[in-house]
Amino acid sequence: MTEEIDWDALRAAANAAMAKAYVPYSKFRVGAAALTEDGRIVSGCNVENASYGLTLCAECSLVSALFMTGGGRLVAFTCVDGHGNILMPCGRCRQLLFEHSTKGMILETVSGFKTIDEVIPDAFGPRDLEERK
Ligand code: THU
Repeated sequence: MTEEIDWDALRAAANAAMAKAYVPYSKFRVGAAALTEDGRIVSGCNVENASYGLTLCAECSLVSALFMTGGGRLVAFTCVDGHGNILMPCGRCRQLLFEHSTKGMILETVSGFKTIDEVIPDAFGPRDLEERK
């Protein structure tokens, strides 16, 4: 599965997104990119705010791009910092990605390729909202 994914193209998209980041406060650029089930590449950059806590992570704009370009689920994901080095998505963004992931979605991480379940084990998700017996 990992072999079928064009990780170079994904990383290039993440780097292109990173260049568009709005980071006047942290100066810490982030770019994220993901492959959708139907073969699109969606990407996003972080967009900060004078009210610091309102900062949008790169993954937030990626998820918006996902829906603005037709929705669907993510099969592969990568994220880079301002130097193009692989960056781990923050905890909140792992939850965001989980919501829109395919089962077994692969993430390129600082410690190699991992599945979504490995980076957010036993995640709370849409199925937990179903009525419990
Ligand atoms: N950031 C992201 O965009 N994604 C992450 O997963 C980690 C953190 C951003 C938020 C903020 O603009 C900057 O990195 C420093 O925390």
